[in-house]
Order: sequence, then structure tokens, then C-alpha cells
Amino acid sequence: MAVITCIEDLKRIHKRRVPKMFYDYCESGSWTEQTFRENVTDFDKIRLRQRVAVDMSNRTTASTMAGRPVTMPVALAPVGLTGMQSADGEIKAARAAERFGVPFTLSTMSICSIEDVAENTKAPFWFQLYVMQDEEFVDNIIARAKKAGVSALVLTLDLQLLGQRHKDLKNGLSAPPKPTLRNIINLSTKWVWGLEMLGTRRRTFRNIVGHAKNVGNVSSLSSWTNEQFDPKLDWGKVAKLKEKWGGTFILKGILDVEDAKMAAQIGADAIIVSNHGGRQLDGALSSIRALPAIVAAVGGQTEVWLDSGIRSGQDVLKALALGAKGTMIGRAYIYGLGAMGQKGVETALEVIRKELDFTMALCGRRDVTTLDRDILLVPQDFEGRWQE
Ligand code: GLV
Repeated sequence: MAVITCIEDLKRIHKRRVPKMFYDYCESGSWTEQTFRENVTDFDKIRLRQRVAVDMSNRTTASTMAGRPVTMPVALAPVGLTGMQSADGEIKAARAAERFGVPFTLSTMSICSIEDVAENTKAPFWFQLYVMQDEEFVDNIIARAKKAGVSALVLTLDLQLLGQRHKDLKNGLSAPPKPTLRNIINLSTKWVWGLEMLGTRRRTFRNIVGHAKNVGNVSSLSSWTNEQFDPKLDWGKVAKLKEKWGGTFILKGILDVEDAKMAAQIGADAIIVSNHGGRQLDGALSSIRALPAIVAAVGGQTEVWLDSGIRSGQDVLKALALGAKGTMIGRAYIYGLGAMGQKGVETALEVIRKELDFTMALCGRRDVTTLDRDILLVPQDFEGRWQE
């Protein structure tokens, strides 16, 4: 058994075990991938202040996210096609999150359905909604989420259109994969993945298939999004959806102060500073650079979380110290899932928890809820001075 020391170790195994089209789907940004890269490299520009001879005993990483107690403020982000990284992947990830004491968020574009996850887990999970043009479908999926005991709705705002990811087009991404010669050759080298996949019925977009009408090619994420997602989604519709849901309401995909103000005004319980992992607007700011101004603008009115670019507990620590109340990880747990299923997701969470805990201690702190900018060395002009 390989010794796993960091998220990068899991990524290497993920790449070996999972069909190329799904590894590439996870490891892609849109167009030139500038924002995808900078989400990670901008974290590296921030350094930590080492402090010594301070009491490091009795540390805690426990906190809350939108009122929910968490063993560390790191939730599993919604990720499309998770059940193609490993058979029944959403159930495995939700179970890992439950064991670890952090929230799991199910994507609208998941393979396992809301009902599949609810039937196979005990802890309430969160559901991420993409707004479709078909209002009946939206009403119905909200009702299904309520019935399944979903405890928060995460509405994604940055994907009315799908940013182009070159690798997905070249690979002919679909769920399940089409039996082309190229796919058959690639799949034949991924036999553990294949055997597990043969052992499950869950191989299509089960939140959608059988629930949505007039669906063309539902195996293709890009054709589905282009045909069905609502390009007219605006703040008025967002407010109505909040009312319709009536429970904890989280807005994901905010990168601009003006949008953050709108989200706070609507009364979101939390907003997630995110550029969708660099998968949408290529050339947008990295999340960590966008965070401080948003915290300054609305941090007193709503919880501000950060997603996009986190690959370590050190990254979590930096986000918290810059004012985020919580964080989300996507790729960092998907690598674990692709590498070794539920155990791999638990390993990813444990790697991050330990990095967060030890790094916090070496910065001379003991409680993640009291972190502040004082532990950081932030480069001058980190946020950038852009012309008015
Ligand atoms: C969908 O959410 C994607 O980013 O592929």
C-alpha cells in the first residue's frame, strides 16, 4: 500500500486508475487554463509567519458553517460526474464526509441521485442547484431535495453557460463513455474501475434522467447545459428561489464585490467566493485574490467561504486567515475518490486536517475560529491595483 503524505500523492494514483476522459474532466480549466493555474499559484505567494515558544496544546480545528458544526471548516464541493471517478462515487464521498464530520454537497450533474445519496447515508447533505429553463423540473428537484432531508441549498451562479474545456471536447466526454475504439483501449487498462462500474446501476445523470422532459443527449454534459440551463437567471429569480426553498440558502460563484453585495442583500446565509475551479471565466481573478475585498465588503452581513485552488491544509489556513469562515474542496477529494474510493476521500480529508492543525500550531495559534491576517505575510499589492 502506497504511503500517502499529501494530496499530490492521491492525484498521481487517480490519474493511473481512472479513464483518461474523467481524470481530464477533473483536471481541466476553461480555455487557456490561466485562472485554473493561478487559483493554486496565488496561494503559494502568501507566506506564513513562524512563531515560537507559544503553548501549542489543546488545539482545535472545529468550527461551524452556516450554523452546522464541522470538525474543520472544509466542506466537499459539488462536482459533476463524481460517480464516474469511482462507482457510486457520490455515495462514497458523502459517507466519507459523514464519518469525518464535514458537509457533503451533491451536484445537480451527479451520477447518483438525491434519493440514492439519502438512502445510503445518515447525515443530512447539501444540494447544489443549477437552474434550468424548465421551471417544473426546478420545482420538482427542490421538492425532491426537501423530501430527502437536504439541509442547505447551494445555488451556483457562475454557470449559465458552460466554459469550454478543450480536453473534454477532444476526449468526447460522456457518461457513460461511448464504446469507441479509443475508449475501449483506454478502459481496458483501467480494469478495477471497470469492474466496479459493472457492479453498479448508477452510470448516467440520475438526478435528470427520468425526471426531466424533452431531454436530448443527456449523456453529454455540454449539450445538456447548452440546451437546458437558464440563461435568464438574474437576481430577481435568485430571490424567488430563496423563498421557494425556505431553508439555509448558499450562493456559489461570487467573485466581484458588487455581486457579493447583491447576494448579502438577498439574505444568503453564506456566499462562496469561487471561479468554479477556473472552469468558467478564464482570465478571472483567482479566488484567494478576490477574497479580501469581498470579506471587507460583506463579511459583517453574511458568511464568506472560499472555493477554488485549495490543495492543502496550508491553503485552508490562508483562506481562513484572510477572513473566510469556511472553505470548499473539489479536486482535492476527487483525487482521493479516484485513487481509492471512500477510503481515499477520508485520506484526503485527514491529510488536510493534519496540515491545517500542525501549520496553525507552527504559526503559534490553537483555534481555527480565531485566525487572522496577523499570521500571514501577504505580498504588497496581492489583490492587484486595477484601473478604475
Ligand atoms: C460542472 O459543474 C463543471 O464544472 O463541469
